[in-house]
Amino acid sequence: MSASGPLRGRVRVPGDKSISHRALLFGAIAEGLTTIEGLLPAEDPLSTAACLRAMGVTVSPIVAGEPVTVQGVGLDGFLEPDDILNCGNSGTTMRLMLGLLAGRDGRHFVLSGDGSLRNRPMRRVGEPLARMGARIQGRSGGNLAPLAVQGQSLHGVTIRTPVASAQVKSAILLAALTAAGPTTVIEPQQSRDHSERMLRAFGADLVVAGPGGTEVTVTPGASLRGQSVIVPGDISSAAFWLVAAATIPGSELIVENVGLNPSRTGILDVLEQMGARIKVINPRDVAGEPVGDLEVSHGPLQAFSIDEPMMPRLVDEIPVLAVAACLAEGTSRVRGAAELRVKETDRLAVMARQLQAMGASLTEYPDGLDIQGGASLKGAAVDSETDHRVAMSLAVAAQLASGTTTLARPEAAAVSYPGFYDDLTRLLG
Ligand code: S3P
Repeated sequence: MSASGPLRGRVRVPGDKSISHRALLFGAIAEGLTTIEGLLPAEDPLSTAACLRAMGVTVSPIVAGEPVTVQGVGLDGFLEPDDILNCGNSGTTMRLMLGLLAGRDGRHFVLSGDGSLRNRPMRRVGEPLARMGARIQGRSGGNLAPLAVQGQSLHGVTIRTPVASAQVKSAILLAALTAAGPTTVIEPQQSRDHSERMLRAFGADLVVAGPGGTEVTVTPGASLRGQSVIVPGDISSAAFWLVAAATIPGSELIVENVGLNPSRTGILDVLEQMGARIKVINPRDVAGEPVGDLEVSHGPLQAFSIDEPMMPRLVDEIPVLAVAACLAEGTSRVRGAAELRVKETDRLAVMARQLQAMGASLTEYPDGLDIQGGASLKGAAVDSETDHRVAMSLAVAAQLASGTTTLARPEAAAVSYPGFYDDLTRLLG
């Protein structure tokens, strides 16, 4: 890849990954049929669908542009699978599934995944579930997959989580659906609230309280009913186009149908802080989630500073924001981002390493980065290190660099955005 002209036209990003997983999972534990429009046809949701099929759930083929149907088996209807459940690269699949399986009394499940997922921390889910009575065992004292779940009958608890994580929160809420007595999860900050919105729409007895929606209570007893779900475009995928158009001179782009749930829009706040030209047009509500089109054009950018309270609202966008920071005026600062070290890769280390190879100047801290702006990026041999968001961030960086960039393992992008390189080629005209 090498630097090319401006990005122009319109792009429609694929469905939101978080909402896609949830639509499949909640559809599976509901009674009756769930129809999903706009489901993300990428590797991560395919992993969720494959796990569900292995437990007797009928999920129609996942084909881009076609609705997907899930024939629910009810809250306790999963069959014991006769092999391991392969979660692939997907942390959301493994963690939410742990919550769903922990309470399937008398049944045994083993969850595993690829090399990245087998090294991601799972105790953060296993520990709170154990307090509800779950029995989950794994390598490294139960922290690492493969994980064996021996289903138990669970009881309700009140749990304060140390880190705001929607995966941890959702796992607990899902286990709570069939526990004896209510369960409350209290987070330090609100993480993305797609589970709360969608569980309520499916009929769960779920109450959100506390400052900023940080306390969520599920009272078991309600059965879920199949729904019609419409998945908006993923703001985490839109982020690559927002940064590309904001940084490549002459760009003018409309990103259509982007989910604008306030627990996800930190990227817009930071780009605004940088002085980027972004406008939300045609804001609307689609099946319980706010949606809009984003108009973005190139302009001068200032450095940004982000800290822990902001992190849950843009945790997946730090890699591409690091690229934007290289081009901005001044030194950008990211702190309170230690969670990035336990994503698909250690994203602080990987982005520092790869952007340094392109001539950027970044300093790594245990919980963040300083990124010096005003860099002139140079084409180089870079590597996604198997991380989808790193792959797409480096592809954006390549458009801003002089000379040719060779990206190793670009196929990682298919985890969340299979058509990314096609869209890039098209938008570059
Ligand atoms: C997700 C939550 C976030 C995010 C991940 C998807 C979800 O992870 O990084 O890509 O769908 O719940 P954490 O819950 O670990 O913060």
